[in-house]
Amino acid sequence: MTFQIESRELKDAVGSWLVVPVFAEQELGGGIAALNEVLGGPIGRLRERGDFAAKNAELLAIRDVPQIAADRLLLVGLGKVADLTVAKLEKALRAAARQVSDKKENSVALVLPNVADAGITDDLCAQTAAVALTVGSVGQDLYKAEPDHRPLQSVTLLAEWNADLSALRQSVDRGTILGEAINLTRELVNRAPADAYPESVAERARTEAEACGLKCTILDENDLRNERMGSLLAVAQGSDRPPRVVVLEHRRGPDKSPTYALVGKGVTFDSGGLSIKPTDSMLTMKCDMAGSATVLGAMTAIAKLNLPVNVTGYMGMVENMISGNSYKLGDVLTARNGVTIEVHNTDAEGRLVLADVLSYAVDKGANRIIDLATLTGACVVALGEEVVGAFTNDQEWCDAVLASAKTCGEAVWQLPMVEEYGEYLKSDVADCKNVGPRWGGAITAAKFLEKFVSQTPWVHLDIAGPAFASGNKPYREGGGTGCMVRTLVETVTSH
Ligand code: BES
Ligand code: MN
Ligand code: ZN
Repeated sequence: MTFQIESRELKDAVGSWLVVPVFAEQELGGGIAALNEVLGGPIGRLRERGDFAAKNAELLAIRDVPQIAADRLLLVGLGKVADLTVAKLEKALRAAARQVSDKKENSVALVLPNVADAGITDDLCAQTAAVALTVGSVGQDLYKAEPDHRPLQSVTLLAEWNADLSALRQSVDRGTILGEAINLTRELVNRAPADAYPESVAERARTEAEACGLKCTILDENDLRNERMGSLLAVAQGSDRPPRVVVLEHRRGPDKSPTYALVGKGVTFDSGGLSIKPTDSMLTMKCDMAGSATVLGAMTAIAKLNLPVNVTGYMGMVENMISGNSYKLGDVLTARNGVTIEVHNTDAEGRLVLADVLSYAVDKGANRIIDLATLTGACVVALGEEVVGAFTNDQEWCDAVLASAKTCGEAVWQLPMVEEYGEYLKSDVADCKNVGPRWGGAITAAKFLEKFVSQTPWVHLDIAGPAFASGNKPYREGGGTGCMVRTLVETVTSH
């Protein structure tokens, strides 16, 4: 997908679609007013009659418009200017991208809206447009003979006459890098578990890393044994697929600057193990490696943006399966840091994987950690499918992550690390067990992880809800979402 940026009259823009964002309840201005005049004034009438109120992400396609050079016209509502946020702008433009990506012939001219009154800069607007078009034109149709969506052939962004085109160009390039990183994460999550297993995902990570100049090291099962990762290895032992830990390194920071660690849960399929999941809960468990896929996506963006920081990504890849060799309830595992864990439920496997990878990241010199995991159904019960749960041992570091999420328009809400809930993990035979009681399950899971990060500032992001969307919506494809890729990049950029 290639982007051009131009200032020209909208009626002269060529392509299979001319996409025109329209605010609700507001006089048309600039190039859009001129276009409306050329067309004989339909936009105002459509809004008055309520046929197109320009509500956020509302679409109206007009497929035969002789007055303009483009083949078709798509009006996309932005809603009221006072209500517009970056997230809403993106939602509207994604809806448009989904609509115009349905055919093979799909070169698009998009009018960059004037969003200054909503407090959004032109540069952020251009970046958001690039993200929305890159992400919105790619579907979860990986295995269809006739895909539902096709990446756009070319995109022309139409700016006002007085716009600084070279500044917009940089924003668009940044948006494209972020959009492609999100799509990489989505693709890996959407792959069938027969295709995406620890070795194959590790190899893919190596290919992507080499393409953008990241150092990539893959630890195989022997390396993991040498590292004494008894907790991670126990989860892996029921599978015919051997585990892998992928380490991605980006070192461009000044000498004494901190090293950030991004750690991802990478359970390529979570059957639940012997504590087997019922079919309905198991159906979407290819998504259980979303944490690792997010780490990979973010690392590629960090490398391509050439950010002057030190960041190491860790992907803990295993498959949680059932066999004669599965780990069992009552087993006592010894984690890499020496903590012994009594297994009470083999479906609480993500924390067992993260335990060893977190302690590895700490020993490799991480100064600040963020982990990402589709960790608990309890977090989905607490916050729903659209909000990420955050947990921390260091409020300042957590505030940094929350502020970055806000900048990116990603919804994150902090939950408390209730001291007492840590007590629920006490075991009669080992240092701890791997589950607590039912209630507050997202918090006990976080209290479990805390045992493996020493004193290092750490934020745990439970993405069990937002990482995977159950169905297609007009403004968003179902399947992997690539949530938090942008927040990770923003956090290491600005904190
Ligand atoms: N991968 C699941 C959590 C999950 C649930 C992710 C829904 C995405 C959507 C995790 O490994 C799991 O099974 N957690 C258990 C923990 C319980 C056994 C303490 C859960 O949430 O039920
Ligand atoms: Mn599980
Ligand atoms: Zn899981």
